[in-house]
Amino acid sequence: METNDTALAEQPPEEEEAPVDLTAAKEIIDQIPASPNQRRYLIPTLAKIQDAYRFLPDPVIELLRAKFKISRAEIFGVISFYPQLMITEPGKYIIKLCYGTACFVKGAEIIANKIHEKYHIRAGDTDKTKLYTLQFASCLGNCGAAPMAIIGEDTHGTIDPEQTVELLGSYKLEEDEPSAETEETEAV
Ligand code: FES
Repeated sequence: METNDTALAEQPPEEEEAPVDLTAAKEIIDQIPASPNQRRYLIPTLAKIQDAYRFLPDPVIELLRAKFKISRAEIFGVISFYPQLMITEPGKYIIKLCYGTACFVKGAEIIANKIHEKYHIRAGDTDKTKLYTLQFASCLGNCGAAPMAIIGEDTHGTIDPEQTVELLGSYKLEEDEPSAETEETEAV
């Protein structure tokens, strides 16, 4: 299962990052109720920010640090417990490959190796084109259809390694351009 390395908490970002619009984060943070035990709102706040941005941008971590009066290391310590919380922008599609017992026995590891062979990613990685981020999941609740994977919003069961690669090939970064035939039809 992937984890976020807490050592990253003390490191500046490696690359110059695009400016982040903090409006949504500020709105979420402004809704945190005043409380003597404000830290109990940290995890729900992280989850809301993750939903808004798809990950936790570094400038937002700084806002949270100031709001909760805690260190970056403490925030990253919390993040490291929750694989769904990500500190880097994920690919367009997150592949949740089930690594529960039934799926493992039915070949999840072989599928993971096939994905690595094709896209050079392991659990927690995003491919260079930012199409896919791979995550391992615990039981997805449908062991009868093992091995299982969720790709983006789509659930797939009884997949095999070759089928998985074929399936992944059908997901695109951009929607296909309309065909010339379609354009002609629309122009009439
Ligand atoms: S172990 Fe994969 S769905 Fe249950």
